[in-house]
Amino acid sequence: MGKKGREIIEIDIKPILSALRSAYADEWMAHYNYLHAAQIATGLNAPQVASMLKARSADELTHSTLIGERILELGGTLPADWSDIPKLANSRKFDLPKSASDLKGILKAVLKAEREAIDVYKKLLAITLHKDTVTHELAEELLADEVRDEEETENLIGE
Ligand SMILES: [Fe+2]
Ligand SMILES: [Fe+2]
Repeated sequence: MGKKGREIIEIDIKPILSALRSAYADEWMAHYNYLHAAQIATGLNAPQVASMLKARSADELTHSTLIGERILELGGTLPADWSDIPKLANSRKFDLPKSASDLKGILKAVLKAEREAIDVYKKLLAITLHKDTVTHELAEELLADEVRDEEETENLIGE
């Protein structure tokens, strides 16, 4: 980021960078978990659930990329070692059901992850308010996506 770009951020950016790195890891985990779930899902409605999960997985990868770009703009670094990604993530456990034909169970695990993402972006909004407008706007955009994801998942579960 350039001189003027840094000047408009009037605070210690360490907490923001730390929150961004964790969110970056969360999005990678969501990308990976949703794609994996799409591949193992079996049963009557599995193709529909799998195609939703694949599309969602791609969206979460886009989120991770956007956050990664912002981290670099702020002068931060991305974890170079893949094994650090699960450790950095806020969300550690993706609670898949025992049976891969339990599609509702799979969707419930996704719903939990989406709700955790909503909390993550709400917190990012709070710590960037009046301090780092560019990250704040990114958090708004991502929050809107996660709210949409939550609703879509709730509708599929039918609760
Ligand atoms: Fe996301
Ligand atoms: Fe999402």
